[in-house]
Amino acid sequence: MPLSLTIADQADAARIAEIHMATFGSNAMFLAQFPTPAVRNDVKHSIELKALADIEDPKTTVLVVRDSSLEPQNSSAISFAKWAHPVRSDEGYVEPPWVWPVETDLDILNDWAKKTEETQLRILGNTPCYRLTFMGTDPAYQRRGAASMMVRWGIERSRIDQAPAYLESTLEAAPFYTKLGFTAAAKISLEYTIHGSDTPGTYEEVSFIYEPSK
Ligand SMILES: CC(C)(COP(=O)(O)OP(=O)(O)OC[C@H]1O[C@@H](n2cnc3c(N)ncnc32)[C@H](O)[C@@H]1OP(=O)(O)O)[C@@H](O)C(=O)NCCC(=O)NCCS
Repeated sequence: MPLSLTIADQADAARIAEIHMATFGSNAMFLAQFPTPAVRNDVKHSIELKALADIEDPKTTVLVVRDSSLEPQNSSAISFAKWAHPVRSDEGYVEPPWVWPVETDLDILNDWAKKTEETQLRILGNTPCYRLTFMGTDPAYQRRGAASMMVRWGIERSRIDQAPAYLESTLEAAPFYTKLGFTAAAKISLEYTIHGSDTPGTYEEVSFIYEPSK
C-alpha cells in the first residue's frame, strides 16, 4: 500500500476533520475544551472550516499522506499535518481565525493557548520558525511511516530556510519526535476544572525544537 506525501487541497478538508476527531477526540484537553457530546459534534465543522482556510493560507502548508490503494481520491488521505511558516512580526500576518461552537469552554481553551504561547516565547523569543500546529494519523493506518514523512518535510524546510522547527507534543507522541531529531525544550502544564465539575485535572504536553544548525 504505497504512501505519498502531497499538499492538501480543498477536497481534503472533510477528511482532515474526520482524522482530527479520530486522533484528538479522546485527548484530555480536547474533552475539557469541548465538554459535551453536542459541542464535540459541532467542533468537527469548525475543524473542517479551519482546514479550508489553512489550505488557502500562504503562510501555512497543510500536508496529507495518501494511500493510493484507497478510493475515492478525496478520502484517500490517511494522515494530515499543518506546518505554519516562519513569519516576522513586522509582516503583519494574521492567522485565519478559528470559529468555535457556542458551548466551547473558552476559559480553558484560552488558558491553554496562553501557556503554549508563553512557552514558545520563552524558548524562541520572536525568532520566526516552522511550527507544527496539528498532526494526526487515522488510527487504522498508524505505524506505517505517514507522520514521519510529514515531520521530515518540516525538517527539510527548516534546513533550507535555516529557521528552527517547533511544536508541542502530547506525552504519548514525545518519543516519536525525539527519534526524528527534535530536542525536548520544556514541559507545559495546565491545571483546569471542567465546567460543572469540582475535580481539578492537570494536562501536560512537551514542547520540542529542531535547530537546523546543530
Ligand atoms: C503520533 C502520530 C501522529 C504518529 O503517526 P504515525 O503515522 O503512526 O507515525 P509513524 O508511522 O511515522 O511512526 C513513526 C515512529 O513513531 C513511533 N510511534 C508512532 N506511533 C506510536 C505509538 N502509538 N506508540 C508508540 N510509538 C509510536 C514509533 O517509533 C514509530 O516507528 P516504528 O513504527 O518504526 O516503531 C499518531 O500516533 C497520532 O495521530 N496520534 C494521536 C495524535 C497525536 O498525538 N498527534 C501528535 C501530537 S501533536
